[in-house]
Amino acid sequence: MTGPTGSVLVELRGVEKRFGATHALDAVSLDVRAGEIHAFVGENGAGKSTLGKVIAGIYSADQGEVFVDGAPVERWNPGIAQRRGIAMIAQELALVPDLTVAQNVFLGAEQHWLGVERRNLDARFAALDAEVGFGLDPHARVRDLRIADKQKVEILRSLARGARVIVMDEPTSSLTAHEMTQLEDLMRTLRDRGCCVIYVSHFLDSVLGVADRITVMRDGRRIETFDAAAVRKHDLVTSMLGREMDQAYPDRPAAPGPDAPVLLDVQHLRTDTGVEDMSFTVRAGEIVGLLGLVGSGRTECLRAVFGLDAIVEGEVRFGDLDWSGRSPKQSIDAGLVLVSEDRHKDGLVLQRSVRENIALASLGARARGGVIDGRRERSVAEELSRALEIRPLDPELPVGWFSGGNQQKALLGKALAAGPKAIILDEPTRGVDVGAKRTIYELIARLAEEGIAVLLISSEHEEIMELAHRAYLVSDGRTFAEIVPVQTTVEDVLFRLFHVTPGEEAAA
Ligand SMILES: Nc1ncnc2c1ncn2[C@@H]1O[C@H](COP(=O)(O)OP(=O)(O)OP(=O)(O)O)[C@@H](O)[C@H]1O
Ligand SMILES: [Mg+2]
Repeated sequence: MTGPTGSVLVELRGVEKRFGATHALDAVSLDVRAGEIHAFVGENGAGKSTLGKVIAGIYSADQGEVFVDGAPVERWNPGIAQRRGIAMIAQELALVPDLTVAQNVFLGAEQHWLGVERRNLDARFAALDAEVGFGLDPHARVRDLRIADKQKVEILRSLARGARVIVMDEPTSSLTAHEMTQLEDLMRTLRDRGCCVIYVSHFLDSVLGVADRITVMRDGRRIETFDAAAVRKHDLVTSMLGREMDQAYPDRPAAPGPDAPVLLDVQHLRTDTGVEDMSFTVRAGEIVGLLGLVGSGRTECLRAVFGLDAIVEGEVRFGDLDWSGRSPKQSIDAGLVLVSEDRHKDGLVLQRSVRENIALASLGARARGGVIDGRRERSVAEELSRALEIRPLDPELPVGWFSGGNQQKALLGKALAAGPKAIILDEPTRGVDVGAKRTIYELIARLAEEGIAVLLISSEHEEIMELAHRAYLVSDGRTFAEIVPVQTTVEDVLFRLFHVTPGEEAAA
């Protein structure tokens, strides 16, 4: 293999992992080395997280061997892995919210952490923090931190335990562009200190920019390990998919005529969650985007429209009805659905099957005289699973068994089962692989063609620029301009988002 010549820290030989009928890892052999950033890429369900978990001792292999520092390990679990210097920053962070930053960092790193002298703890924290340059406040409660800082705490925590191999599973999926750059710098810092960073991500540009080696997984197999300096994005995608990639975006559906009814009409919305003054409309058959930076108030706006948060001022109309102060249940029953960005908190019951999750969304629509039509439920679940290419294609499996991207697709399926007239999509392709993104884009286009009003939020601005008929620019809780994507460019939009003079061109 080409690439860095640092010593091999962990090596897998012929590792097998099965979950029931799923062959999650199929004869995987791989090494990771000191002083490298080693990325794992692949489609949803390809086995990336499972591979990371085997390396970190969270799963043990059904067959095959794990070598650490050249010697085979006899027993393999998270405790042993930790003692051997291997840590994983999970997709769902495992911090104690009510403890401080410093307490979390040293939690479990020693026997009697509560007994650690405060001054001592502070000094040690300061030394550690200075090494990586985070500048975290040791006394802040973890509960009050935003996700990017929580990740930093997790990273410090693994360093406090002497980690040399740090597995980061999709660490950037909820970060702003700026935080993403910071995280990439951090990965480089760790690498330069001689650590191995394993970076699992769907952001191929980031992967190409930061990684030394890139391992492509497909169907549980290691397909190839590339030297990142010598590979192009196109080759990566082809290797991930096992075929040439179609064009990324489908054709934009025809814009609805001026006589198409306005289904969503929001005027001067204000909430106490950060929306100051937002106004926009969405017609039947129209795809409308909200373009803004993370934290600009887009998600908060949608939550209020859907009925999750209170409206303080302004008007929301859904069709002919005043839609202020409605509950989420009323919204769903009336055909206004929200696909939330947080699939675990607002979206899915992980212990339940895809069919059950879908049924939960559409109980009102499917109940016949109080009896739920089981057969119909199954056929709807199957139809949607097929349309969204949910894998494995078995609506009876618990959602928690699915890979991250497939959970996202199930969430979308749940919203569609309710038979919406208007659908609000908040980051619908987060954690979804390149191939599946195209499936979701096609679906969005089809919804519009069927006359459904689509309101789309995405931090990948290109998605809105390629799919939407119209879009509003949002900053500091305000819609400050309306654009037609085909008449402008992503660069122009970014320029305007970063150089806003609020109130300068208030939306009419
Ligand atoms: N705990 C589990 N129980 C049952 N099946 C599982 C479990 N964990 C993973 N799988 C299955 O193993 C396969 C690989 O999943 P894995 O989570 O490793 O994929 P991934 O490459 O990380 O995908 P994504 O990009 O969507 O996160 C999938 O088919 C998944 O459904
Ligand atoms: Mg995963």
